[in-house]
Amino acid sequence: MANLASIGAAVIGTGFIGTVHVEALRRIGVDVRGVLGSSPERGAARADALGVRQAYASLDDLLADDSVRVVHVTSPNDLHVSQSRAALEAGKHVVCEKPLAMTAAESAELVELAAERGLVNVTNFNIRFYPLNQHAHEVVAKGDLGDIRLVTGRYFQDWLLLESDWNWRLQPDRGGALRAVGDIGSHWLDLMTYVTGHHVSSVMAELSTFIGTRKEPTGPVETFSTDRSAETVERAISTEDTATILLRFDSGARGAVSISQISPGRKNSLVYEIDGSDGAWAWDSEQPDQAWIGHRERPNEVLIRNPALLGAAGQAASALPGGHVEGFFDTFCAHFRAVYADEAAGRMSPAPGYPTFADGHDEMLVGEAIARSAHEGRWIDVDRSATRTAALQETRA
Ligand SMILES: NC(=O)c1ccc[n+]([C@@H]2O[C@H](COP(=O)([O-])OP(=O)(O)OC[C@H]3O[C@@H](n4cnc5c(N)ncnc54)[C@H](O)[C@@H]3O)[C@@H](O)[C@H]2O)c1
Repeated sequence: MANLASIGAAVIGTGFIGTVHVEALRRIGVDVRGVLGSSPERGAARADALGVRQAYASLDDLLADDSVRVVHVTSPNDLHVSQSRAALEAGKHVVCEKPLAMTAAESAELVELAAERGLVNVTNFNIRFYPLNQHAHEVVAKGDLGDIRLVTGRYFQDWLLLESDWNWRLQPDRGGALRAVGDIGSHWLDLMTYVTGHHVSSVMAELSTFIGTRKEPTGPVETFSTDRSAETVERAISTEDTATILLRFDSGARGAVSISQISPGRKNSLVYEIDGSDGAWAWDSEQPDQAWIGHRERPNEVLIRNPALLGAAGQAASALPGGHVEGFFDTFCAHFRAVYADEAAGRMSPAPGYPTFADGHDEMLVGEAIARSAHEGRWIDVDRSATRTAALQETRA
């Protein structure tokens, strides 16, 4: 791996996931030049706490820093497009958090702009980079499971269970028209596309809002915070707490996923099972170092992550020997190692293994089909017809 210390990065957003980006970049040896917070004061306080050399006073200030080659966008969803666009226009490579945009029209623009400028563009679907998910991708591609028939699972959390739980994600103008689906369902859908190599072609969805009114604290709230604020105002909620979605894949495979942010006891549980004609594969993000492999004619297996037993992609994503459990944080390191190999080469690989803006855009298209299906109460095809440019056509590759 090239020496990454000569590549400067800056991180926009200093909350839950911005902090993870800063720490992961440092672990792989990238030079974090500075952070940008919601205000110069908050940025400065977070830069101090993280030991980062500076907080930029503004986005313009950050973009004027010639030592910054890569910008990481980890702000709330409504800022992703304007900040990513400004960074691309300033000639910077961009790693943007999911969901990539508020609408598919906006994410299409970003795909085109990044392609026009020839810049590395990444949507942070980090869950692909658990070593066993990298390995699963290779297992399916080799045909070890046979023809993929059924893809099922869930993504459940409980941090928005109570009416007193509050976060900017609950506001459609900040988080988007879809909440649970955009926030966590997008990870599951991207992961299944990545592991199986098949795209979702049609959806039949039901979205449910069980908590129609919530209490918004009058002060700021950290993501995943369980603090209760005394001062609150009542807010009507229009976005979904849960989603139940039937899926058809372009290969003919069928699927179903449930998504919830109100499932008591489930902290961050992404589960999937892929059933093929010759075998099955199942994985749970709360037990990320083991996968279940199902057989009909011989005993089932449990594969404990061990680089010696994985293919090249699983090995590349593993930092530690078997038995030394790798988790959420490590996926960022593995993902960024793959991205920064391209940064070091100064260009995007022809078929990058990491998720690009095209992948982020594809999830926006699937999300819009889900919203429309729930609204109209019928199956909706994912509309990929608006592929005006080669960059957008690659969304289907
Ligand atoms: N890939 C993952 O696993 C993962 C996990 C969590 C969050 N996310 C994504 O990351 C993003 C941030 O989520 P979070 O949970 O860290 O939220 P958060 O509220 O903890 O952090 C957001 C940060 O952005 C800052 N901010 C607000 N306006 C800003 C501005 N104009 N300029 C710069 N910074 C600004 C806020 O002060 C806050 O520090 C979201 O898009 C979310 O979907 C991804």
